[in-house]
Amino acid sequence: MPSEKSVFQPDGALFRQAHVSSVEQYKEMYEKSIDRPEEFWGEIAKEFYWETPISRDKFFRYNFDITKGPIFTKWMDGATTNVCYNLLDRNVRNGNGEKIAFYWEGSHPDDYSRLTYKKLLEEVCKFANVLKSKGIRKGDRVAVYMPMILEAVVTMLACTRIGAVHSLVVRFSADSFAERILDCEARVLVTVDGTWRGEKLLQLKAICDQSMIKCAQKGHNVETCVVVSHLDRVTPPQGMQYNSNKTPMTPGRDVYWHDAVPQASASCYPEWMEAEDPLFVLYTSGSTGKPKGVLHTTAGYMLYAATTFKYVFDYKPNDVYWCTADVGWITGHTYAVYGPLANGATSVLVSVKFATGGRKSFGCVPKLSEWFRTVYEGTPFYPDNDRFWVVVDKYKVNQFYTAPTAIRSLMKFDDNLVTKHDLSSLRVLGSVGEPINPEAWHWYYKLVGKERCSIVDTFWQTETGGHVLTTLPGAVPMKPGAAGFPFFGVLPVLLDESGKEIKGEGEGYLVFSRPWPGLMRTLFNNHDRYETTYFTKFPGYYCTGDGARRDADGYLWVTGRVDDMLNVSGHLMSTAEVESILAEHPGVAEAAVVAKPHPVKGECLYCFVTTTASASFDGRLVAALKQTVRERIGPFAQPDVVQEAPALPKTRSGKIMRRILRKIAVNDRDVGDVSTLADSSVVEMLFATRPQGA
Ligand code: WTA
Repeated sequence: MPSEKSVFQPDGALFRQAHVSSVEQYKEMYEKSIDRPEEFWGEIAKEFYWETPISRDKFFRYNFDITKGPIFTKWMDGATTNVCYNLLDRNVRNGNGEKIAFYWEGSHPDDYSRLTYKKLLEEVCKFANVLKSKGIRKGDRVAVYMPMILEAVVTMLACTRIGAVHSLVVRFSADSFAERILDCEARVLVTVDGTWRGEKLLQLKAICDQSMIKCAQKGHNVETCVVVSHLDRVTPPQGMQYNSNKTPMTPGRDVYWHDAVPQASASCYPEWMEAEDPLFVLYTSGSTGKPKGVLHTTAGYMLYAATTFKYVFDYKPNDVYWCTADVGWITGHTYAVYGPLANGATSVLVSVKFATGGRKSFGCVPKLSEWFRTVYEGTPFYPDNDRFWVVVDKYKVNQFYTAPTAIRSLMKFDDNLVTKHDLSSLRVLGSVGEPINPEAWHWYYKLVGKERCSIVDTFWQTETGGHVLTTLPGAVPMKPGAAGFPFFGVLPVLLDESGKEIKGEGEGYLVFSRPWPGLMRTLFNNHDRYETTYFTKFPGYYCTGDGARRDADGYLWVTGRVDDMLNVSGHLMSTAEVESILAEHPGVAEAAVVAKPHPVKGECLYCFVTTTASASFDGRLVAALKQTVRERIGPFAQPDVVQEAPALPKTRSGKIMRRILRKIAVNDRDVGDVSTLADSSVVEMLFATRPQGA
């Protein structure tokens, strides 16, 4: 295997026509985007429709320096537009009405459908009219709890059309969902009756009911719940069936999609939105445990999603693009919905896990389906372990975008599962969610990309709205494991602990000194927390919470979170969130959670638990704790290891030293300096009592 230092050039023949085809061209465009942002983004904005034109003098304003006043970012302030109009009507008017917007594939290969731009527009207008008839107006919030189905896209765009703010939640427990509905005070909830996963029936409507009860207990009543009847139309697992009469429906509040939508009018005038009006809220884990409602706004997000999609995937009008991420994740928002549609693209949308009409369960890797959210609303293991490549071949996919955790899970199968399919349509292979380890990179590059395709390792966050660090596929040489360089408009800086800039080679905190159009504007209803979380550690900078290293060639290598966050299969969660759930158990006095590297998930949860005097630490307690975390946060959060810790390594001031716990989790006795510990014998005791097989 080549060393990490190896450099791979883009394939000249494949990228001759690329939007950006040389390093020089990238540099020239990048410099323009930094020196003359009005001109750079102004030219892009011309391709979109503006009801009120953009004013040059109000194009771009911001303050990133908390010592000088409140933090804000405004792009194209004063202009008005509608994102849905730009994604659908504009493409239909440009003659692309009959073009396929989405090919949809269910879990069972027999379940598939497609939607043209024109038809999508009609469906969106109908549902927008239904929302209006339920009293939803500009600024109201709509919560969405759906698998990967076309109605999820229709719901998002229907909200966008009338200026309602959508908030999607994926596979969270009833508690977590309720917390999110309450935080954004959603008036409407959109969901499905349920979905099959393997032979397991997931009754999503029932989960929503529990969430709505919890909300009502706290004084918030969801007024309307729209339910898509999904189970009726997918192939159930053999020998299984679902009686749709069993879906709990509350008269007056709950309404079936099929009762409301077909009769609604297929025309709906778009609501003209201010450039800085909210577009959507998406919750992400916060290091204090309470989720943060990341808010994105209209014009800037639209331009940024469109531009990153076009350049990072080198998208051309006849390409077929596939992003495996769930629409309920930011990757699904920006790169399965907004970015592709803004470019008039044809995408594949695959719903496999959620809508599994499985004739056999997930044979080889049964557990994977449990905790994948990035990919495995589609599982690549059904009906066989080559489902990804079957789909790529079937639709002649040109750009394929997935997560390292998915790649690692597929690497262990026979190469033949990849090589027996014709993957010659592929040009760009994307990776997102965590740093891609070189081994997975090489497998992706060689076996899937046949050493022709470019890999784009895209670093970004829910907060950044779109890619911020990546290489451009036709222009910039790749280094396995390096995210690369800033996208247009992005100014990354590395800082040391004291806030001093690290120029040239070195490692430090990854921060940004200026906003690009797609950066989040605030946390929903909590601007103070926005300022504290992202802008106080280093005044003048947006702080990502990640560390990075710059090498001699200027490439940026993201090294992972510097705060107490875990990244399990690309899913971020905070240690505090898990610890507080563990500590709520009556048998638990204290808990500390750290990340342990995992060959497929990237990281997994390793928990240290101190029991109360009356409780005993046994298999039952461990099982109960694992189950509680699973129920409260979601299946992906289930801890891999729970270790008894009669005491935890703490400083004299009582702060738990997670650095040491991380060493214990991996059984690495090189723990470094323990002199600040109140009682250093704890460390040896914890090493000695590691559970078998952990
Ligand atoms: C991590 C996902 C290294 C990082 C779009 C970030 C990455 C967090 C990469 C955001 C990458 C994402 N290389 N690390 N290519 N992509 N991350 O909000 O720690 O779910 O801060 O957004 O994932 O996760 P989020």
